[in-house]
Amino acid sequence: LKVGVFFGGESVEHEISIISANQAMHAIDKTKYDVVPVYLSKKCEWYTGDALFDVKEYKNLEGLLKKCQRVVIVPNNGKIQMERYPAKKFGNNVVNTIDVAIPVIHGTNGEDGALQGFFELNGIPYSGCEVAAAAVGQDKVFMKNILRDSGLPITKYVWYYSSDWFADQESCLDTIEEKLNYPVMIKPASLGSSVGISKATDRASLEEGITEAIGFDKKFIVEEMVTQLVEVNCSVIGDFSSAKPSVLEEVMGSDEFLSFRDKYEGGGGSKGAKTSGTKSQGMASTNRIIPARLTEEGTKYVQDLAVQTFRVLGSAGVARIDFLINAENNEVYVNEINTIPGSLSFYLWEKTDRNFTELMTSLVELALK
Ligand code: DAL
Ligand code: MG
Repeated sequence: LKVGVFFGGESVEHEISIISANQAMHAIDKTKYDVVPVYLSKKCEWYTGDALFDVKEYKNLEGLLKKCQRVVIVPNNGKIQMERYPAKKFGNNVVNTIDVAIPVIHGTNGEDGALQGFFELNGIPYSGCEVAAAAVGQDKVFMKNILRDSGLPITKYVWYYSSDWFADQESCLDTIEEKLNYPVMIKPASLGSSVGISKATDRASLEEGITEAIGFDKKFIVEEMVTQLVEVNCSVIGDFSSAKPSVLEEVMGSDEFLSFRDKYEGGGGSKGAKTSGTKSQGMASTNRIIPARLTEEGTKYVQDLAVQTFRVLGSAGVARIDFLINAENNEVYVNEINTIPGSLSFYLWEKTDRNFTELMTSLVELALK
């Protein structure tokens, strides 16, 4: 069975996707499956080839792509055929075929239902969320509206389109200040990995944060922050009938919230500080405590919320649900779901009941279910 791992993509999380996908490709059980790398460049060009297996090669992307075959993706009878591009006039243009797709593209067009729609339309088995769940999971406004209406605990929030903001900034600021208490977080609605996110403690920094967020998205969301914050994450695997939670991780940010740098660039320093880590160290360099330091009861409570979140959002495959806990009163809030989590959350499953190889097998089996 040929398993195609799809990665790269045009989102701000392109580099993170390269790391996640490379980890996943190496973990797949080669005695069961043939792994086919399928890389989507930022310019939306598709490539395949063995050179894509070596994460060091990505430091010189141009050089790497020269060693690869540029292809077009052609659906053919429930399989994906990769054909040489540009096509040769004579001879066979088929480079490879894929039986099952594993999307490992974070964010825009990969995690938001676009790629899933392509697979769906062409009858290609694929892992993870279907179209609607992927779309809802990527849009923090849609996601929070559903979580709120399902009675799950979330922090207070207000959202606007950028056009609302441009039409009447004063009234947007007034409404936000009326409904929420400082400090607040401002986020683009549909990004990941903390890109475009900032904290505001007053009207001036709120305005600044909104200006930053709308540089990335047509919609922004402002959320009341949790004080005495402890961040805890839980992965869930399965589908609506078989959702199962992992152990919890406690994430230690070096700042008040986990920035892109904390997550992927080695962390450890304030903004602008030189980090010793390189991007290829990826998720491993974030400070995390596994299992999280919660009571047995608290752990169970968060795991139950994780499964409920996964189910009400219609998720499938492996997802990671992020929680905010107020350490003073032990209130727990669902922050968000990541339907294609960094490193596919293998490090949580390793400490739960399956190693990375078994996790990848679970994902392929769920895709074929
Ligand atoms: N969006 C990134 C990859 C994560 O939350 O894991
Ligand atoms: Mg996220």
